[in-house]
Amino acid sequence: EKGNYRHFMAKEIHEQPEVIARTLSHYIDVGSGTLRDGAVPIDFSQIRRLSIAACGTAYYAGLVSRYWFERLARLPVDLDVASEYRYRAQAFPADELALFISQSGETADTLAGLRAAKAGGQQLATVVNVPTSTMAREADIVLPTLAGPEIGVASTKAFTCQLATLACLAVKAGIDRGTLSPLDAEGFLSALVELPRLVAEAVTLEHSIERVAKLVAPASSALFLGRGTSFAVAMEGALKLKELSYIHAEAYAAGELKHGPIALVDEELPVIVIAPFDDLFAKTVSNMQEVHARGGRIIAVTDARGAHAIGDTAEELIVLPDVPAFVAPVVATIPLQLLAYHAAIINGTDVDQPRNLAKSVTVE
Ligand code: M6R
Repeated sequence: EKGNYRHFMAKEIHEQPEVIARTLSHYIDVGSGTLRDGAVPIDFSQIRRLSIAACGTAYYAGLVSRYWFERLARLPVDLDVASEYRYRAQAFPADELALFISQSGETADTLAGLRAAKAGGQQLATVVNVPTSTMAREADIVLPTLAGPEIGVASTKAFTCQLATLACLAVKAGIDRGTLSPLDAEGFLSALVELPRLVAEAVTLEHSIERVAKLVAPASSALFLGRGTSFAVAMEGALKLKELSYIHAEAYAAGELKHGPIALVDEELPVIVIAPFDDLFAKTVSNMQEVHARGGRIIAVTDARGAHAIGDTAEELIVLPDVPAFVAPVVATIPLQLLAYHAAIINGTDVDQPRNLAKSVTVE
């Protein structure tokens, strides 16, 4: 049921504070601010490497989590799109944990990857939204996202719930591997507990994003840039825009700009830069200046401190609440979902059922 919303996608975007809170409370005891016993039945001290495979948006959740696992737990992460993962001649070492991320739990390539890792003798975990799905049945360890049914073909709430779940896993990994002190772990978990409120704040930016969508919707192409976890968010933002509005959109790591994509920059090209005020901010701003100097139209997704530093370099500023760097990718995703949604409305495309796409890709 869409309730008062025009589209399932709008309902699902607005539901995020609630479903993220529900997902987090499966993993975190909010009262004590600690991980719930047994909610993550993995001993990361016994794992030498995490090997992640997924498709589409779920792959981008994996990409964000790679930065988290490395930073919080010094855990090496291998990451692949499932359609490549399954065809690689992998060794499947026994001290690796194979992790598959999927909303539906039925995606053909991801499921084939899971079965390949099983045949290789690896331990299997899945971050999955549909508890009765094939992947949930076949994995050894099921880590549920509690996003509820997602109807819109473009994934929104499933993605942010995947991030919430993966963030809890990264904290568990840091605790198990002794790279996070109890105090550090508490800090990360309390940042997560604040997420539903911060996401709700980000959703309130919808009106200013409608204005930005008017700038993006007529374009034939758009570029998304970011560094670190913001690079992964940029990838997800570009996927949402192309799925929903049929505008060609590409994401690049901001540092790659000079290695090719800067040739695309002209007065017509919207360049959406994800730039929270973190330790990579200064580098991203210098990329923004390179785009600006060539007449590119910059839309910066940042926070109050970032906005101050960016000033006139950007044509449009989307100013998010100030949040700890750890949870910033979740919050920064919201305006990109809303941007794609409103660009689609302006362009008159089918928001909940974009052309050529299926909700669950059960053929390879
Ligand atoms: O059900 P899954 O999470 O395995 O689906 C993976 C992709 O097919 C899915 O994320 C797809 O990219 C969405 N249309 C993205 O919005």
